[in-house]
Amino acid sequence: MTIRVGFYGTGLISQMHRFFLADSRVDHEVVAVHDPDADRAADAAASLGAVAVGEDELLDLVDAVYVTTWTSEHPRLVEKIAARGLAVFCEKPLAVDAATAQHMVDVVTEAGVVNQVGLILRSWAPFPLLRDLIRDERAGQVLAVVFRDDQYIPNQGHYASTWRVDASKAGRGTLLEHSIHDVDILQWMLGPVRSVSGVVREVHGHPRIDDVAAARLEFESGAVAQLTSIWHDILERPSLRRVEVFCERLHAVIEGDLFGPVRWQYTGEPEEMVENDGLIALCRDRGLEIGNTARSFLQAVEAGRPASPDFAEALPAHRLVDAIYASADAGGVPVDDPLGARAPT
Ligand SMILES: NC(=O)c1ccc[n+]([C@@H]2O[C@H](COP(=O)([O-])OP(=O)(O)OC[C@H]3O[C@@H](n4cnc5c(N)ncnc54)[C@H](O)[C@@H]3O)[C@@H](O)[C@H]2O)c1
Repeated sequence: MTIRVGFYGTGLISQMHRFFLADSRVDHEVVAVHDPDADRAADAAASLGAVAVGEDELLDLVDAVYVTTWTSEHPRLVEKIAARGLAVFCEKPLAVDAATAQHMVDVVTEAGVVNQVGLILRSWAPFPLLRDLIRDERAGQVLAVVFRDDQYIPNQGHYASTWRVDASKAGRGTLLEHSIHDVDILQWMLGPVRSVSGVVREVHGHPRIDDVAAARLEFESGAVAQLTSIWHDILERPSLRRVEVFCERLHAVIEGDLFGPVRWQYTGEPEEMVENDGLIALCRDRGLEIGNTARSFLQAVEAGRPASPDFAEALPAHRLVDAIYASADAGGVPVDDPLGARAPT
């Protein structure tokens, strides 16, 4: 069957999803797009051979919808899509706060629709490899992680986005909008979090839009992670991460978040390094899931089975981000049990 796909939102990230779809090798057709920016919608429709239509009309034409609007619009659109029983891929963050994200989980669960979230770092080769390296029994316990993520503030350069400095559309700043990926990776790699604390600053002067965030996450395993997330004005640095992990008998570091290098050394063994094609080949050899998020989404839609990561899998990251902001807003006091009373479904 040809899966008919629609897009709510035809901005920057929709272009990446359109590229992944074209490369997915799953039978589909992007048939309709909607964006209140009529020029953008028309351009996208023309390049896809699709039609630009109204918000409600789109739902009559498709089997699955990508929600790639700014964040504050995600919950409302997801509700409409789920009410029609259609599959949905929604960008991260799901919503501007964890309570709304929980509601979205409830909505898609009750509707029984295939759902997937754009926590794309889980499929970028360096991260599954790092997770695999620390799970090797030679590593011993994870002791500490130093995670740095920096990007020029994205209201300029190729993002040129106005909404990212508007808290009514983005919710908050770099920690939520950008580093929810990092928080998700940390809990995906290291397991449940016992306590968090944090400090945020708004140096650029946009209310509630943090451009410096420093967080500490303590894990039930005993591991401790420091996350530093920065929005600066160094236009030569669009988005870069460095992740360094110390275990009892392993040192591993991601120096480039997309293509490596990744370096590691177990006690008594030589240092190893992979990057580019070698990195991809090693992940494939190890049977790690990397690559095309559109392929996994469409395959789930085709088979009528759950997709991954789904909305429920994204909830811990939303709760942790909320808890770090709560700590920061209260002067940096630790927040224990940040995953809250209601366990992720
Ligand atoms: N997974 C990732 O790595 C990643 C990267 C970038 C952005 N994102 C997320 O993707 C989303 C979009 O980001 P972007 O960079 O593409 O922003 P963008 O500004 O380039 O595009 C957003 C588009 O949504 C449109 N829009 C707003 N309300 C709409 C509605 N009700 N219906 C249809 N379209 C609507 C806007 O007109 C705009 O064209 C955000 O939630 C962002 O956090 C994720």
